[in-house]
Amino acid sequence: MKRRDFVNWVGLGLIASSLPVAIAACSSQTPSATGDWQTVGTSADLDKTGQLLAKNSPAGPVLVVGTSKGASLTAVNPTCTHAGCTVAWKAEAKKFACPCHGSEFGVDGKVLKGPATEALKTYAAKIESNSVQVKPT
Ligand code: FES
Repeated sequence: MKRRDFVNWVGLGLIASSLPVAIAACSSQTPSATGDWQTVGTSADLDKTGQLLAKNSPAGPVLVVGTSKGASLTAVNPTCTHAGCTVAWKAEAKKFACPCHGSEFGVDGKVLKGPATEALKTYAAKIESNSVQVKPT
């Protein structure tokens, strides 16, 4: 075997042996994909305005509505399903409204008014040790 052939053969073996490691590294799931609870802010921040927007949380964009003293929390992905604007919570009307084209969504994320046709993604939400936490539903 010539030296060049040997080097090529060894190089191919190294690539082949490292392939499973590379595949495993690429296929590892993010925490949000595993369904774990993710902290998106503090209960003090939530209580200031009754809503907490975490655009870059580990679970993705999250808008939590409620207070630490309220009976239940609502959490949605605030990315409008029509064209991607960020919806706002309208506390008086108890709905999410999109500033771009007027879509409206109920507290459960379902479409109340188009042009959006798909519901907002929702999360389970809770407060634990003064942290607001969400989990994909
Ligand atoms: S992006 Fe929300 S209604 Fe168009």
